[in-house]
Amino acid sequence: MRMSASDFEGLQAFPAELEGREAWLDPFEWYADVREHSPVRYDEARDTWDVFRYDDVKAILADDERFSTSPRNIDGFQEPEEGQGFMLDTMLLQDPPRHEELRSVVDDAFQPRVIRDLEPRIRAITTDLLDDVLADGDGELDLVESLAYPLPVIVIAELLGVPPEERDQFKRWSDTIVRGASADVDPETFVQEQQQAGQEMAMYFLSQIEDRRENPRDDLLTTIATEEGEGGRLSHREALGMCMLLLVAGNITTTNLVTNAVRCFDEHESALFDDLAGDERALGTAVEEVLRYRSPVQAMTRVPLDAVEVGGETVAAGDRVVVWLGAANRDERQFPEADSFVPDRTPNQHLGFGYGTHYCLGAPLARLEAKIVLAELTDRLSAIEVVDADLQPVRSSFIYGVESLPIRYERGA
Ligand code: HEM
Repeated sequence: MRMSASDFEGLQAFPAELEGREAWLDPFEWYADVREHSPVRYDEARDTWDVFRYDDVKAILADDERFSTSPRNIDGFQEPEEGQGFMLDTMLLQDPPRHEELRSVVDDAFQPRVIRDLEPRIRAITTDLLDDVLADGDGELDLVESLAYPLPVIVIAELLGVPPEERDQFKRWSDTIVRGASADVDPETFVQEQQQAGQEMAMYFLSQIEDRRENPRDDLLTTIATEEGEGGRLSHREALGMCMLLLVAGNITTTNLVTNAVRCFDEHESALFDDLAGDERALGTAVEEVLRYRSPVQAMTRVPLDAVEVGGETVAAGDRVVVWLGAANRDERQFPEADSFVPDRTPNQHLGFGYGTHYCLGAPLARLEAKIVLAELTDRLSAIEVVDADLQPVRSSFIYGVESLPIRYERGA
C-alpha cells in the first residue's frame, strides 16, 4: 500500500519552466506570461493540459459532471498492477454521488461552529510551542520547525483521538509520509521509508478503527469508524483512506499558510505585524489575502470524463488537466492590483481552498489555526523580521512555501 503527498496531487509532474529553486520560489512572472499568451496549453513533455486563468479554472472546478478528480473514474481505467501501489478510497478521488456519501461522515465535525469550539485548545497548544522555543531566548527561531509544522500535526492527532503517548510515533510517521524526495536521500531508501511509514500508520489506524467500533469515544476516529453517513458505515478501507486524507491534506498545507503569511507580512511596506496585532478581524482578512497571493496549494488535477472544450482547446476524455490555483489567484481580470499583497482586500473570491464539490473540508480549521498562530506571534513578539536566508522551496509540485523560515524578534509586543 502506498499513500503519500503525491496521491493528493494525482501523480502530476512539474512543468520544466518551474524547475529549479528560483523558478518555484517565484513562479508568478511565468504565470502572468502564460495567462496572457497561452492560458490553456498542452505540455507534451508531461502529457498534460495546463489552465491558468481564473474564469477557466473556476469553471472546471465547478463542473463535477464533466471533470473528475481521478482517472479511476474514467471508463476502462485499469488499476495499477500489484506492487505498483494503489490509491486509497477517499472523497477527494470520488465523484458525486459517492463523494457526498463519504464527505457526509465527517462534514459536521468540520463545520465552522464546531471548529470554533477548538479555539482555546489550539491556543493552548500554540502557547506551549511558543513558550518552548522562546525559552531558548536567543532572539531567533525557525518558524516552520517550531510552530507552523508541529501545530497542525498535534491538532489533527488530538482531533482524531491519538492518545498522547502515541503522538511522537504518529508525528514520525507523518513526517516521513509528507516529506518530499530530496537530493540528500537516495531515491530507493526514500521510497522504502515512505512505504514503511505508510504501512505502519495504516496498521495503526486500522487497529484504532477496530478499537473505536468496540469502544466508542468522543473523537474523530469514532466518527470515522461508526458514523452512518449518507451511504451507510464506511468500510475499513474507506475509514483508513479518510484518516490518511485528513493527515495528508491538512498538515503541510496549513504549515505553509502560516509560513507564507509571515513572508507576506514581512515583505509589506508598512509594519504589518504591528498593524495587525490585536485586531482579529483584520488578521482574518489578511489571511485570506495570503491564501490568494501566496497560495499554499498552487495546482490541482482534473480529468475530463468526455471530450470537452476549455478556452477554445479540445481536451480528450481521460487527459490530465492541471488547474493552476496559484495563477488564477493572480489573474488581473479578477483581482485589481493582482500582483500586490493588499492585506485588507475585499471582496476576495480566491481559489486557495479550491471551489465547488471538493472545496476544502478543513478550511475553517486551517483559518483558525493560522489566525491563532499569527495572533500569538504578533501579541507576544515585536520587531519580527525574516532573516535574510537562502530560502528553499518546499519539495512538492503542488505545495507552495519554504522548507524553513528563520525569523528574528524581540520579546514583548
Ligand atoms: C491552508 C491550508 C489548506 C489549504 C490551502 C487546503 C487546500 C485544499 C484544496 C485546494 C482542496 C481542493 C482539492 C480539489 O479540488 O481537488 C482541498 C480539499 C480538501 N482538504 Fe484542504 N486545505 C487546507 C487545509 C486542510 C485541513 C486542515 C484539512 C483537514 C484536517 C483539509 C482537508 C481537506 C479534504 C478532506 C479535502 C477534500 C475535500 C473533498 O474532496 O470534498 N484541508 N484542500
